[in-house]
This record gives sequence, C-alpha cells and structure tokens, in this order.
Amino acid sequence: MKIIKARDYQEMSRRAANVISAQVIMKPNCVLGLATGSTPIGTYAELVERYQKGDLDFSGITTVNLDEYKGLTRDNDQSYYYFMNEHLFSKVNIDPKRTFLPDGTEPDSAKACEEYNRVIDSVGGVDLQLLGLGHNGHIGFNEPSDIFKARTHCVDLTETTVEANKRFFASIDEVPRQAYTMGIQTIMQAKKILIVVSGKDKAAIVKEAFFGAITPKVQASVLQLHSDVTLVADEAALSEII
Ligand code: F6R
Repeated sequence: MKIIKARDYQEMSRRAANVISAQVIMKPNCVLGLATGSTPIGTYAELVERYQKGDLDFSGITTVNLDEYKGLTRDNDQSYYYFMNEHLFSKVNIDPKRTFLPDGTEPDSAKACEEYNRVIDSVGGVDLQLLGLGHNGHIGFNEPSDIFKARTHCVDLTETTVEANKRFFASIDEVPRQAYTMGIQTIMQAKKILIVVSGKDKAAIVKEAFFGAITPKVQASVLQLHSDVTLVADEAALSEII
C-alpha cells in the first residue's frame, strides 16, 4: 500500500484529485468507481475546478457508485444519486447515461442487486475505485460481518452507521435502515484503489484496517491483499501509524 500523507483535509483532497486526474488523463474512457460521504467532497470540488479550468475532460468517463440507500428516490436530497449529481455529475461534462448507482427505488432487493451486477459487468470492471473508510472499517456499506460478501447485496445498516449518518437527516427516524452496496469482490477486482481518510476520529480504524489482522470484522482490512492501493490521508488520520 502506498501512503500519501497530507497536512490537512484540503491537501488530502488535492492529492486524491491528482490520482483521479492522472487516471482520467491517461485513460479518457476509463471506469471510475465512486464513493459518497463527507470525505470525498473536497476531492470532487478539486476535480470540478480542474474541469472548469479546462484541464480535465470527463466526456468519455463511465462511473459506478459503491452504494445507494434502499427506499430513497433520486430527487431525495439524501440519496447518493442526489449527492453525486450535486458534487460532480451536474458540474462536469460527464454523460449522465454513463453514471450508474444501484437503484434505491427498486423494492425487490434480489432484482436491484442482480441488475447492478449486470451494470458492473457490462462496463467491463472498474479501473480506479475511490473509497472512504467508515469508523467501523466498512467500505461501501460492507459492514462488519463473519464473511466478505462478493457482489452487490442489500445490507441492514448497523446502529453505528445509522448513528453516523443521522447528521444528514432531520431526525434519526428518517435515516434509511437498508442500503444496496457493491460487494468486496467487485471492489477488490478494481485495477487500482484510492482510499481517502481524514480526521483524528479515523486514526484508530486506519491502524486496525491497514496494519491489523485481515478479517471481515474490519471489512477494509481486505484491501491489504490488493496490489495497487493508495491511501491518501491527513496527518490526523495517520497519527497512530506514522
Ligand atoms: C459512501 C460509502 C461509505 C463512506 C464511509 C465514510 O459511498 O460507501 O463507506 O465512504 O462511511 O464516510 P465519511 O466520508 O462520511 O466519513
């Protein structure tokens, strides 16, 4: 694993945007795996700025997102589709027809997951997968478990995750309890992985996930087995390891 240490959130965002920009420049028709959450917001803002300056062209890019809440429509401002549209898709020249997320409005979980697996297969796999890291070590919504789930599945979110997500909703009762997420095999099959982490509150899980035992109890620990992972993190997030 390559570790890039940034001074702060802003530098982390710039460094992460450098990795994504390099990918887009070197392979203009690449498939980007994307994440939501608070950590990549600055990275997306950097990419938008570079696009506006004329330094990046997203016209040939395809994107597949990690996850989506089950039960939220695309126009719900808490849906991950809405997030992606607000932070990236509507601000760059990406073809909306080539941006994919699991369909949160599909009530039949098996159908939604099967359809998303089909999408992932049809785009030919992911060139660069961007990830954030949950406080419990989750990646996508692959929550601590006794197993690693291979492909897209419906998850019951843990109380910790519901608790962490409630800041985005009017009340905890509005936080969805289920989500569709890409599985660990799909994430591990990405050619390159970029994981962004910021803040002191993530320092313990960074150490556990990347320097501890490889276990489905800490799903991100599986990334230790991937041959091309770049961790871009600020000093606070790296404070327990460097
Ligand atoms: C989001 C996702 C999650 C987040 C993780 C960290 O698509 O898949 O795994 O990356 O929960 O979230 P933040 O960045 O808000 O700390």
